Amino acid sequence: MTIEKKIETAVFPVAGLGTRFLPATKATPKEMLPVVDKPLIQYAVEEAARAGIRRMVFVTGRNKRAIEDHFDRAYELESELQKDGKTQLLRILDDITSSDIDFIFVRQPHALGLGHAVLCAQPVVREEPFAVLLADDLIHPDHEALSQLISVAEQTQRSVLAVEEIDPKESIRYGIVGIDEPMTSSAKITSIVEKPAPKDAPSNLAVVGRYVLSHEIFDILSRTKSGAGNEIQLTDAIAELASGSGVFASRFHGERYDCGEKLGYLKANIDFGLRDDSLKKNLSAFLKTRCE
Ligand code: UTP
Repeated sequence: MTIEKKIETAVFPVAGLGTRFLPATKATPKEMLPVVDKPLIQYAVEEAARAGIRRMVFVTGRNKRAIEDHFDRAYELESELQKDGKTQLLRILDDITSSDIDFIFVRQPHALGLGHAVLCAQPVVREEPFAVLLADDLIHPDHEALSQLISVAEQTQRSVLAVEEIDPKESIRYGIVGIDEPMTSSAKITSIVEKPAPKDAPSNLAVVGRYVLSHEIFDILSRTKSGAGNEIQLTDAIAELASGSGVFASRFHGERYDCGEKLGYLKANIDFGLRDDSLKKNLSAFLKTRCE
């Protein structure tokens, strides 16, 4: 059994360089880019909180101070808003810094890859199972992606990855899992490969940025050598975990936007804007004029 305890901790690796968004990410973390009016990282933290998680661990790097500030009180701003009687805006700020949630920050000194970033959380997570959320994979809050994953982990008592079907041509952008049995809602994985060429991909099931992992992954990560892109890959450690205690894939339901790249980020802004009552009329009128 690998997932015996309740999942109480979420790890947010936010130490990547975000080069696909330069120059925006020169001094601002990619995870602070807003979709309409809320930063990507806040959507991910809210998703974890809705799944019952109360301990949020951020693995940060240089230039990520803005994330710490975002989850801290902003006394000057709050007192200005108070003075002006702007209670609705004050509520928006209050919602970010809920008192029953712990925000913990650890550093990844060098961006050596996602696997290395997860390993940096070990001193805080210790021997607990934990969730990992990649904030640049934005999932629309209509679907509770992480809650779905946690229930599969509780049923199977194993580590679980969220997967979705992709166009096989896109395999080069994802970790791809192999399974032996037909995929219903979840299945045990038999292999996982980072960014394979379409001809080498074991299936068209791609890992999206939500994981529930057993603490055994830390031991494996501490031995994992650099892989694809010369980075310490979480995928390689998961492959070893899969051949040991076993890992499940869970079919992800919902809408996901790859906000790590420009087109996905723009789509998210348009879609979230069109679902916002205060914006949808004028935004759709504007889009119509542009699409004619
Ligand atoms: P990405 O592959 O999107 O990398 O990382 P990136 O460096 O942020 O972006 P590009 O490719 O240069 O544009 C996936 C996730 O892993 C985190 C990132 O912050 C992102 O959430 N990550 C990646 C780390 O925390 N540390 C790393 O060393 C690498």
